[in-house]
Amino acid sequence: MGILFWDGYSYTGPVAKSLVPRANQLERKQFCLKEKYPGGTSREEKLFVAEVSRSGDEGALRKSSILDSMNQAFCILGRQPALGIAELESLFGGDNIQPIGEHGALLNIEPAQIDFTRLGGTVKFCKLLTILDTVNWRHVEKFLAETTPQHLDYMPEGKMRLGLSVYGFSMRPQQIAATGLTLKKVIRASGRSVRVIPNVETALSSAQVLHNQLTGPLGWELIFVKHGSKTLIAQSIAVQDIESYTLRDRGRPKRDAKVGMLPPKLAQIIINLAVGLIEPVDPACSPKTTHDSTILDPFCGTGVILQEALIMGYRAYGTDIDRRMFEYSQTNLEWLMDKLQPTQKEFRVSIGDATQNEWVKPIDTVACETYLGRPFSAQPTADVLSGVIHDVNTIIKKFLKNLARQLSPGTRLCIAVPAWNTEKNFKHLPVLELIEELGYTRTSFVHVSNADLVYHRPDQVVARELIVLIRK
Ligand SMILES: C[S@@+](CC[C@H](N)C(=O)[O-])C[C@H]1O[C@@H](n2cnc3c(N)ncnc32)[C@H](O)[C@@H]1O
Repeated sequence: MGILFWDGYSYTGPVAKSLVPRANQLERKQFCLKEKYPGGTSREEKLFVAEVSRSGDEGALRKSSILDSMNQAFCILGRQPALGIAELESLFGGDNIQPIGEHGALLNIEPAQIDFTRLGGTVKFCKLLTILDTVNWRHVEKFLAETTPQHLDYMPEGKMRLGLSVYGFSMRPQQIAATGLTLKKVIRASGRSVRVIPNVETALSSAQVLHNQLTGPLGWELIFVKHGSKTLIAQSIAVQDIESYTLRDRGRPKRDAKVGMLPPKLAQIIINLAVGLIEPVDPACSPKTTHDSTILDPFCGTGVILQEALIMGYRAYGTDIDRRMFEYSQTNLEWLMDKLQPTQKEFRVSIGDATQNEWVKPIDTVACETYLGRPFSAQPTADVLSGVIHDVNTIIKKFLKNLARQLSPGTRLCIAVPAWNTEKNFKHLPVLELIEELGYTRTSFVHVSNADLVYHRPDQVVARELIVLIRK
């Protein structure tokens, strides 16, 4: 008989069963079902972690653990994993993060304590199931075939959907499809029906996971990541909400291609790098640190950073030299209030030159994408480029000087500044060499180097370099 651990108490038998519907009413409440296996070779204890889905669906008890309950969060990172690692490190501390393979990061934190929706650099949010001491796929498959039947008892009635996503193994999608077929047979033999989602690539896209409801009560996406001589197995519990990001980007009433299109995900990363450590809290509540904090964006443009700050629960304060941009931000934030109704509603926008503006206090943190200079669709000549670098450098230097005298010591900030992707290398702003002189310390990270914190697409000349500073 299972023992249900919930809210610090343990329950057995019918009591445990009767708790399941109650648990369904709670959002993302986690509980553990601990089962003893008398039939095992030893009186081996196995833990199953169950989670009630966010929707609170009937019968939404979801088993998730293959063997040991590790109850640790695991993140599949976005296109530039270093940005995702730095973001996690900034929020949760370097000691709590372990990069896994090229694509993942293991967190020493329970998934329920993390608000995944604020992470711009994580595309799939998972719970760790187990780590195998092998990278031989045949052994991995054998393990899955043996352990899968144990889980079916914990899935609600109905046709299951199974997906497999493999990272870091040199495998073809066909090999993964073969494993899917093996598991399908195992599941069918246990009397359940299942649909296996076909792999076009070795890993399913977020869109496939969403479309097939693999994080829903009847879905099961297993994630495999090669890490040295080990294979980490996890289960996705949420993926980035593509529709919401699209709405927050293209759905806004005011956009401007010339000012630049800061993707909301990158805005989230910039904010997370700026705010630094947060207390992990129950996902039903906003992080404590956010309630009274004001985030300043002195180059607010159309207001993407302000928008994302409000969604995360921070007060937003934006200024821009251009009246049109001030009006765009104002309109976009009013649209946000109406459309997405963020819990935080306090914002302020005004016109101001960042090189000399006096900002209204308090400023708890600064997060911005500064002036980036002229956009280039092709490589500029060396003369043109050095002229642009000179102009932008002058503005950023004056801005940092002006800002320094208005910030309290210890204030943390993240600024995205331009770096230019020339055919040979990245050209950086010369002012980055003067950070100490200007009154700031540049933060470094345990798991990534600052040189990797450059957001760029291969075809773009102007990249954005993320600089995290602390006012001395
Ligand atoms: C790259 S855009 C920022 C775009 C913004 N992240 C958004 O969400 O649209 C840079 C912005 O800096 C503004 N700007 C340029 N020089 C400025 C200055 N000296 N002070 C304040 N804003 C300035 C421009 O008007 C522009 O809106």
